[in-house]
Amino acid sequence: MQESQLNDKVVLVTGGARRIGAEIVRQLHRAGMRVVIHYRSSDSDARALSEECNRARPQSATVVQGDLQDIAKLDSLVRQVLESFGRMDVVVNNASCFYPTPVGRTTEEQWKQLVGINLKVPFFLVQSAAGELRRTRGCVINIADIYGRRPLREHPVYCAAKAGLIMLTQALGADLGPEVRVNGVAPGAILWPENAQDEALQRKLVARTPLKRTGRPEEIAAAVLFLIRDGSFTTGEILTVDGGRALSP
Ligand SMILES: NC(=O)c1ccc[n+]([C@@H]2O[C@H](COP(=O)([O-])OP(=O)(O)OC[C@H]3O[C@@H](n4cnc5c(N)ncnc54)[C@H](OP(=O)(O)O)[C@@H]3O)[C@@H](O)[C@H]2O)c1
Repeated sequence: MQESQLNDKVVLVTGGARRIGAEIVRQLHRAGMRVVIHYRSSDSDARALSEECNRARPQSATVVQGDLQDIAKLDSLVRQVLESFGRMDVVVNNASCFYPTPVGRTTEEQWKQLVGINLKVPFFLVQSAAGELRRTRGCVINIADIYGRRPLREHPVYCAAKAGLIMLTQALGADLGPEVRVNGVAPGAILWPENAQDEALQRKLVARTPLKRTGRPEEIAAAVLFLIRDGSFTTGEILTVDGGRALSP
């Protein structure tokens, strides 16, 4: 997809109301795309963001609500996108949850939630969207994590789910060509979890990052835009955006 060709193309961003997802929405919208902002519980943030986009360009944004773990409803989510804008060109699998699951204190419910939203949902959402993405010669962007390639202590389930998402990106890249490209972005530390309290650990992580800072949501969104707009011969690839964190122990 060339820059001029992004105009009026339609992207669905899951968990797009807040934080990194909202910045992905803003940047793709600014690049000319029409945006469907999916949210689960952040109703007012999603609506405010949609209004912000529509003020800049009328009828260029809308919202869809749903718990994505309800796999049976993913077909209808895709139908809602098509009813709103008549087409879909890009799916960004951004929705996620993240918390520790130490051995000895982890429930099956937590496994289902972490593996569900970080791995199972991206597969089944792509399955629901594949026909339309083939038709539009579109693409998929999966938001992974550097901790899908190296372990984060006490987060084995999240790490395994994101590792699965990285392999899923490669496997679907192989399976869905030539019509559909499938790529991912692996962020390092961008925004701390909202309930994060361990400031000493945060300082330590930044100290181990060659660029000596956390990243900005805009820097993740820029990588997403690059893969959609400029990465026309790239599929099955994961672009790491982590200030070099993965280079050091
Ligand atoms: N933050 C970082 O520094 C960082 C680092 C590495 C990787 N990442 C990855 O980057 C992406 C964005 O990170 P983030 O920190 O901005 O994400 P986040 O705030 O943890 O989650 C994004 C959204 O996911 C939605 N969500 C969660 N469970 C859902 C479900 N069952 N159904 C539907 N929506 C659900 C929530 O929507 P509602 O609010 O509407 O409920 C939430 O706002 C994620 O894939 C994350 O793993 C982030």
